[in-house]
Amino acid sequence: MLTQELLDEFLELKERYDAVVLAHYYVESDAQDLADYVGDSYFLAKKASSLDCKTLVFAGVEFMAESAKLLSPQKRVLMPEPSADCPMAHMLRKQTIDEAREAYGDDLAVVCYVNSTNEMKAWSDVCVTSSNAKRIVERLPEHNILFVPDVHLGHYIKEQVPSKNVMLNDGFCPTHEAIEVREVEELLHEHPHAVVCAHPECATWVLDKAAYIGSTSGIIDRCVTGTEDEYIICTVYGVLHEIKKQVAAAGDADRKRFYFPRTTPICPNMARVTGEKVVACLRDQSGEVFVDERFAQGARRALERMLELAQ
Ligand code: 13P
Ligand code: SF4
Repeated sequence: MLTQELLDEFLELKERYDAVVLAHYYVESDAQDLADYVGDSYFLAKKASSLDCKTLVFAGVEFMAESAKLLSPQKRVLMPEPSADCPMAHMLRKQTIDEAREAYGDDLAVVCYVNSTNEMKAWSDVCVTSSNAKRIVERLPEHNILFVPDVHLGHYIKEQVPSKNVMLNDGFCPTHEAIEVREVEELLHEHPHAVVCAHPECATWVLDKAAYIGSTSGIIDRCVTGTEDEYIICTVYGVLHEIKKQVAAAGDADRKRFYFPRTTPICPNMARVTGEKVVACLRDQSGEVFVDERFAQGARRALERMLELAQ
């Protein structure tokens, strides 16, 4: 809980620097509470490109803040915790793309999950997030799709779009992959009427148990609008903060129950993004995001194509 003194300072700093704060659902709850907008990665990328302000504070991991900078290059983008990175964002070798381009020529689209470095985005044809990947892959004219870097989201999309030849890479999210199907089965045994909601970064065997698969926003909506009383949530624990707020606002706080796998999924990088650091980066004007010019143009092209095709 932040002190009133810090909250007052935060409001003064926001005004002084004409700043808007964006936060992902996985960051610490104080950081979410300070944000003007909290959302999934697609919502936040779109928001960054449309806001009219001089400074953006991005409470999230590096690839998210970099995407905001690419889509809004005239703004100063600050990261409260500049070392917060996503390990999956680095799980791709250029050779994988080169070999696929060699084999399939013009009839190949390299589809890159936004959880990737700018260099990888620049190698690719289009970016996607978990909330728009299916729609974008369906809309691409190419039949052959190389989906990078996430093997699990890629596998899910392959099943959802059987008309395409979707090829996979071997990247993964260590936090989502650690959720074991045994844990989900145990929870289902204890709460047989619970709805299993899972993020598509979970392994296939976990997704097979899910009644709902979707992005962080999708999972939150499903839990808030669902008529059921119990939910088993297979994604990072941070989403519970928003779920609880919305469920309370809907008058369902006493009725609904939410369960997470016993080895509670926490993203160690997102968890380091705290409310105090949000205030500190504004105060010190620290953690500014700079994009390597060698990859900026290519990465921006892939992100802009995502925004276009996702509409
Ligand atoms: P969303 O796009 O669903 O917010 O997911 C981002 C992410 O990093 C999931 O681990
Ligand atoms: Fe990356 Fe996984 Fe953290 Fe999402 S939860 S930011 S994919 S490490």
